[in-house]
Amino acid sequence: MIPLTGYTDRLSAAPGERIAFKVSSTARGPYRASLARVVHADPNPAGPGIKIEDLAHRFSIERPSRAQPLALGSHARVDAAAGLSLRGPLTVSAIVWPTLAGASEQCVMSRWDERAGAGWTLSVGPGGVRARLSMPGLAPITLAGGVSLELRRWYRVWFVADAAAKTLRVGHVALSGRTRTQPHETTAPLPSEARRDAPAPILIGARLAPEPREHWNGKIEDPLILGVAARAPETLALDPLLPPAGLVAGWDFSQGIEGLDVVDIGPHRLGGRLVNLPTRAVTGARWSGSEMCWRHAPREYAAIHFHDDDIYDAGWATDFEFTVPDDMPSGAYLMRLAADGHVEELPFYVRPSRGRREADVLFIASTYTYQAYANHARGNSDAAFRERVAAWGAYPHNPDDHPEYGRSTYNRHRDGSGICYSSRLRPVLTLRPRYLTFLDARGSGLRHYSADTHLLDWLEGQGIAFDVVTDEDVDAEGAALLAPYRVVLTGSHPEYHTVRTHDAHAGYLEGGGRLVYLGGNGFYWRIATSPVLPGVIEVRRAETGIRAWEARVGEYYHALDGTYGGLWRRNGRPPQQLVGVGFSGQGLFEGSYYRRQPGADDPRAAWILAGVDEAVIGDFGLSGGGAAGFEVDRADAALGTPAGAIVVASSEGHGPSFVVVFEDLLSHLASATGERPSRMIRADMTYAELPGGGAIFAVGSITFCGSLSHNRYDNNVSRILRNVIERFRKPR
Ligand SMILES: [Fe+2]
Repeated sequence: MIPLTGYTDRLSAAPGERIAFKVSSTARGPYRASLARVVHADPNPAGPGIKIEDLAHRFSIERPSRAQPLALGSHARVDAAAGLSLRGPLTVSAIVWPTLAGASEQCVMSRWDERAGAGWTLSVGPGGVRARLSMPGLAPITLAGGVSLELRRWYRVWFVADAAAKTLRVGHVALSGRTRTQPHETTAPLPSEARRDAPAPILIGARLAPEPREHWNGKIEDPLILGVAARAPETLALDPLLPPAGLVAGWDFSQGIEGLDVVDIGPHRLGGRLVNLPTRAVTGARWSGSEMCWRHAPREYAAIHFHDDDIYDAGWATDFEFTVPDDMPSGAYLMRLAADGHVEELPFYVRPSRGRREADVLFIASTYTYQAYANHARGNSDAAFRERVAAWGAYPHNPDDHPEYGRSTYNRHRDGSGICYSSRLRPVLTLRPRYLTFLDARGSGLRHYSADTHLLDWLEGQGIAFDVVTDEDVDAEGAALLAPYRVVLTGSHPEYHTVRTHDAHAGYLEGGGRLVYLGGNGFYWRIATSPVLPGVIEVRRAETGIRAWEARVGEYYHALDGTYGGLWRRNGRPPQQLVGVGFSGQGLFEGSYYRRQPGADDPRAAWILAGVDEAVIGDFGLSGGGAAGFEVDRADAALGTPAGAIVVASSEGHGPSFVVVFEDLLSHLASATGERPSRMIRADMTYAELPGGGAIFAVGSITFCGSLSHNRYDNNVSRILRNVIERFRKPR
């Protein structure tokens, strides 16, 4: 654990609103929390350097230190079962699809009271299916099937405690696969003292000991409990219309897929609640392949995929709250925590008072993208990287070393499945000023939160007043939030969008708004959020695109809202249609330059490069050493770039690592739109005038803003952005 860290309940607040800070500190004495404002969060000594304005005179408090625990691993918890009495015969069974072999037991279902040493568990481990029953005053009796289960194969597993026959049986049968298997069952004597009852909650996917342990990795479907000794458990089925004889409880996971509740179809209605957000809307044992959407065939999606590294809300107690003062300008702020020589800076944004604007320029902080990358472990923090972190005084912690906070939607779970949820209700190490992402040979190697301060610093230096809102604000309030602004600016990588943030950008432009898209690979993935699960996003990496992992076939629809996931392009909204350009090529974190194009002399666009005499633009910068690089977007009429759009400059000279995005390729020679693939690795700096007075200026490159500060902010990239913002700011 990091000695001093925390998170906030929200990432933005307006004057008069409160932000709650949740802190864990292992320091002996108290820690101090003080306010600061962020101007520039790039520690590279070759650039402008860190600019953080201390505002401790406005807010500074001391709080006693306390460590707050964080437990990873998902399961369902049925508290309503604590009062259930199960004295007679008992059958416990479920359908499972194990995904991770390990040396220890993974619990399918349990009812266990650790303090009293009482109850039962059904688990799978190296020795196969295993039952454990408590014995008063003695060690529990255990019985294992002795045959290990194959990974990623469906089985029904069970134990049967048959009081009349005085036997305990454990067994399994494979439900799928080429070779039809016979059920495998092992029997042992059941002592009459064996206690099958414990006044404890039932857990599905873990055991209480006294915290949840022995987490299940894989899918579980139709877990059930019978108050009879099933004679042929291999034939059991949980049919909502025809429940099995003696059913005490049976959880139908196909009900309520959008939320955290699990529904019991048994007579006692022992409903439960999911902890740490396992994945729903996944294919079950009955999935036939004839339906791809869980809403159309819910019983084919009656499984839940649990992981021992799932995390949703860390659930830490609030240490203190900060109420944004009425006179605090909109902007990027920090709460700086300090104790025992440790410093941790928790970012948040102050947005303008609701219904008011303080400036005519608005910056949208790409908080959904920051969240998608939250705690992205890249495995790149080698000795040279750490040396630079130390030399520059960069943020010292790296997700490579801290799996305990959960990982990002760019990582996989321990069982190899892709992580499709990311919560901001936990410490997020990548969301910190001074955080380095890459060991950048020619620049700083920043991305996301810190990289976007290249723009904020430039705006401040140019004397351009701006307001800040976040993706979540735009999601909640739509185009009405953007409409009052003459100019709206994105950050370097506005990649993840809900249908509402997407609509808000489109609505703003349709209403005559002027959007400056200052990044690359923007408006790319569709995400889902949920009104009942604040602070979490869901992404299904479906079908195609540049992807960190691949969603399983049949699992392309979001659990949280039932919509089809994947690329916005595969949802009928290519980025070119919205912002003029869209993802076209990607390579290493290297920046190249743009070359002026004939469009720059078009009378409608000549003002953009006014004062720029050079043909080569942006061959410098703190992000990869050039303004055009890493992830680049092109204009393409076939994908919806507006008619009459003008490309004023295009990038070239990208290194051999760059590839054309897969969704554009039909073969090594042919692209979907007919353009030669070798030509498609480029960023198009594009200007488009829209009907209704709206306009778009898009740079099509993630590294663009890294070039703004070059030569004390006097350079052609800075000049171009200044020209665009001045022009866009003029009254319509
Ligand atoms: Fe990205």
